[in-house]
Amino acid sequence: MAGQQAVERAVASRRERVNEAIDEDLPLAEPERLYEASRYLLQAGGKRLRPTVLLLAAESLADVSPLAADYRSFPAVDGEVDVMRAAVSVEIIQSFTLIHDDIMDDDDVRRGVPAVHREFDLSTAILAGDTLYSKAFENMLETGAPAERSVRALSELATTCTEICEGQSLDIDFEGRAAVTPDEYLRMVELKTAVLYAAAASIPAVILGHDDAVEPLHSYGLDIGRAFQIQDDLLDLTTPTEKLGKQRGSDLVEGKQTLITVHARNQGVDVDDLVDAGSVEAVTETEIDAALDELEAAGSIEFARERARGLVRSGKNHLDALPDNEASDLLASVADYLIEREY
Ligand code: IPE
Ligand code: IPE
Ligand code: MG
Ligand code: MG
Ligand code: MG
Repeated sequence: MAGQQAVERAVASRRERVNEAIDEDLPLAEPERLYEASRYLLQAGGKRLRPTVLLLAAESLADVSPLAADYRSFPAVDGEVDVMRAAVSVEIIQSFTLIHDDIMDDDDVRRGVPAVHREFDLSTAILAGDTLYSKAFENMLETGAPAERSVRALSELATTCTEICEGQSLDIDFEGRAAVTPDEYLRMVELKTAVLYAAAASIPAVILGHDDAVEPLHSYGLDIGRAFQIQDDLLDLTTPTEKLGKQRGSDLVEGKQTLITVHARNQGVDVDDLVDAGSVEAVTETEIDAALDELEAAGSIEFARERARGLVRSGKNHLDALPDNEASDLLASVADYLIEREY
């Protein structure tokens, strides 16, 4: 299997192609401020992990040599499809959810820059998110796949967006709950996060006409997406703000229920008292370090890491349905990378 450096190279080269495509496929229009706000976060950076998963799944299915591919006219079972449009669509959905997520989570920093509602204003951020949401569907319509497959891809995207809203709603509800169970947490992150990985992995199979691969790739995405969110929760505690591009410790301040805090509560840790600060601006590194020490001592960090490792193992098993090639190998390595990454 490819090592971490090979995965980072694979992601970086696809990220470049995706970034060029975003500029082409999301043109500026009027009113200028709305489109500026819509593109602001996309241009601020981002790892582009979901479009990378989408492109790698396409490469594996078509059995093309990685990156030799012309993603704009990509070999389907019967003709050619613009898989890059689908990749752009998925990354646009990612940006839309981040803009609205930062409003809901009261976070000020994203991708190392002020969140859209801070850089612009609340109304503009809500509208920028809404604009991106519909632009994602417009882009998914432009893949050139036959009508029936295009409709299925759109339907998958629509279901995904509904589920993200359901997951985000549970995430907010859980803040007010005294306790949630690990299963409730896993269902919440399946909805808010993993479904977009599942869409990214399975939509190429839909539009390229590889029906047998749709279900396994969907399952791969759900498993690695849940693991990805557990790692995101861990990084919130462990990674400095500058490296993370978002405020360290934000989940503790906001009273988020994560697998880590769910476990800690069961071990008798007073999770609600881990930090005193009432806002992300007020929380100190010393306070977060002390909270992390307590969570580590309770075994909660290791508990979460172990669950994430199990999900990655399970996710990789679904890749048996793919042809054995460099791209499927990279998809397995991406799964490992999602829980080894440091930002
Ligand atoms: C952040 O996703 C949102 C979550 C689902 C946790 P990423 O960590 O992939 O964010 P970007 O796209 O790289 O900024
Ligand atoms: C976000 O989860 C999930 C989304 C659907 C955007 P988080 O709230 O943990 O994401 P970050 O940590 O702000 O990126
Ligand atoms: Mg958030
Ligand atoms: Mg959130
Ligand atoms: Mg987070």
